[in-house]
Order: sequence, then C-alpha cells, then structure tokens
Amino acid sequence: MPVVTMKEMLIHAYRQGYAVGSFDVVSLDFVSGIIAAAERSRSPVILSLAESHFDYFDFDLLMPAVEAAAKSATVPVAIQLDHGLSLDSAVRAIKLGCNGVMVDASHHPFNNNVELTRKVTEMAHGCGVPVEGELGYVPGVEGEDAERHPGELVYTTVSEAKEYAQLTGVDFLAVSIGTVHGRMKGNPKLNYTRLQEINEALGIPLVLHGGTGLADEQYSRLIANGISKINYYTALADAAGNRIQQNRQDGGQGYTALVAGAADAIADECERCMHQWGAAGRADELLQHCTPWDAVEHLIIYNAGASDDAVHTMMATGRQTLSQIPGVREVFTGEAIQEGAHYRFSWLVRFCHPAVIDSYREHPDHIAFADSLFRPIAGDRISIDYRAVEGVGTTPGSVTAIRKSA
Ligand code: 13P
Repeated sequence: MPVVTMKEMLIHAYRQGYAVGSFDVVSLDFVSGIIAAAERSRSPVILSLAESHFDYFDFDLLMPAVEAAAKSATVPVAIQLDHGLSLDSAVRAIKLGCNGVMVDASHHPFNNNVELTRKVTEMAHGCGVPVEGELGYVPGVEGEDAERHPGELVYTTVSEAKEYAQLTGVDFLAVSIGTVHGRMKGNPKLNYTRLQEINEALGIPLVLHGGTGLADEQYSRLIANGISKINYYTALADAAGNRIQQNRQDGGQGYTALVAGAADAIADECERCMHQWGAAGRADELLQHCTPWDAVEHLIIYNAGASDDAVHTMMATGRQTLSQIPGVREVFTGEAIQEGAHYRFSWLVRFCHPAVIDSYREHPDHIAFADSLFRPIAGDRISIDYRAVEGVGTTPGSVTAIRKSA
C-alpha cells in the first residue's frame, strides 16, 4: 500500500493544516534517510526527483530504488518529478513510477507557462497523476542547486494565480511569496497577506519551494495560510556534506568511510522538519483516507491468423509504439511455452493507474496500431484489465479483473 495517491495526501494535509515534506533525492543515501525519518516520525512523505538535478544521478537507474523504498515503507509515500521542464519529461517520469509531476515553466511568460502546463495536465490527468504548476519565480541564491534558478524573485499575484489555475487545471500551485532556492541570505520578505489571498481565491493545496532556512514561526504561518507541501533540499545536502567533512577530519579516506552516516544526517534533518511542519504522527490516519497507487495489468491472450514472422513483426511494432503512450509502464509480448495452449500469444501491458484504461484505448497511436496491425490478425482473443489485490488471505500483488472485453 504505502505508495498512495498524491492528491489525496495533499488534500488531507491542506484540510488538516499541516505540510508534507517533498524532499529532493540525489542518491540512495537520500532515499533511505528520508524514508527512515518518515517511519520514525510516522509521517507521510514525498520523494522528489528534480530535473534540475539530473546531472547528479541517472533518473532511469535511481527510480527503481525509489519505487522499491516507497513500496516497502509503512508510511504513505508519493513520488514526484520536481521542476519538470517539458511534456516529454512528465511522460518519462510517469513511466518510471512518479505518481505526481511538477511542471516548471515559471521562467516563461504567462501564456507560455499556461500552454505547457495545460498540455502536461491533460496528459497526466489521463494517467490519474496530479500536477503541480508554478507561477511567479523562486530564484536561487547560494548552494549547489541555486545556480540552476538564475534571476530575480517575482511574487505570484492573486489575479494571475486564479486565471492560471482555471486555464491549466493544476491540482496544486507552487507560489512565490518570498523564499529562494538554496541557502537563505538575510531575512526573507515573506508576503503572508498575498499567500492568504491566493489561498482564499484558489482553495487548492499550495506549495512552497525553497524550503530551506526559514524560522519555525515562518513555517507555521505559511502552513496556516495554505502551504501543504514544502520542497526541501539544500539543508539535506548540507547535513550530508557536513557529515562527510567530519568523517574526513576524523581520518576517513575511502568512499565508504567518507559517506558513512550521511543517510543518518539526512534522516535527522528530515525528521526535524516533519515535526516542525505537523506531518509527524499523521501516517496512520492518512493511510485510512488514501487510495493505494496500484498498477493495472492489461492482459490480452490471442491466437493469430498469420505466419509466425508476421506475428513477431507485429509484436515488435507494438512494443515500440505502445510503450510510448503516456501511462504505459511496460509492454510484454509473449508466446506460450506449452505446445497446444488454448491461446498461443499474449500481451501484458502495465498501466500506472486505472485511468489509463480509457486514455490508452483512445490514444491515436493505440487506435492506429490496433486497427491496422493487431485486430486484423488476432480475431480470436480475450482482453481483461486486472487490478492488484492485497489483503487477508492473498499475497501482495495478486490481481483481480476490472473489465473483460473480447
Ligand atoms: P531548497 O534547496 O531551498 O530547500 O529548495 C528546494 C526546492 O525548492 C526543490 O524544489
């Protein structure tokens, strides 16, 4: 269960008046430190993977570990693409297991921001995935991520926020109300009145980027005015960096000696935040409210009225085409091992969410492939969508039918 629907998670936080930490991950030490903190404090948590950090890790390689950690956690976890720059990035992130995406076009003019965000929202909602957009601009000041956010701070305005939310259909809005990415320099000029007005106008969970470096009282006032998700990175990177420096001073030399304890340092800082932001102790009540984030197995078994060569060519085209459709995580094409099996061939297409059953069926690439290549040779077939079944008397991951169609 513990991967849960991010929209339900953040609406719970919004209504109950706390904020979920969205902690950026750049290595396995971050994954294990963040999850350890969430479990220790019984807190919901978001594992966040920022496109602005993709130089630091291989997204394809790290995501299976992120997903495995989230699935085996005992607290509710969501996985988000942070600062996604394009529609393609969002499609890729969903394919790899993100169940929330942020599209960051905040550096573009309003209309361009709306246009890109709307495209991402239409695609992601067809996959059951909620979207965070950003309006106004949160610049970077100092820290390893700061230079990736050049320029001056631009505060979000109420009228633009209202129009933007209506035009894009975003589920959450990242606002710029005085924070910066990276280490805070001096006292931030937080505009609580503006935040309150945006909150009253929109009524959706609001997101704070540049979460590092505020005082306890500042976090509390921000959360009281609608901030339900706080993006946080620099303080974690600094905590890990300080531990590594300490290890060096203590005589550590090799890699494992230098990074020893980095995950613990990250965990301590995350746990402090979870208590400060009111998320600690919320895991169990939230698990009662949240729908598990479960994949759907779209299974087709069929016999083919064509040569084996023609079937294999059709399968290769299908694997290539269908795996690009948003919300498709994996395409398996199979041939029966047993001689004389009632159905000789199979497709197993894994969707990230039940919403993809419809968006996949209606996708022009699926229609073109099915009508021109698949259906003409696979008249004898059974097609069923399965959802996972977990609970007493079943093993996790066993499945049950959603719908059957011939
Ligand atoms: P900080 O690095 O300032 O905590 O900001 C993180 C962030 O906003 C990532 O999206």
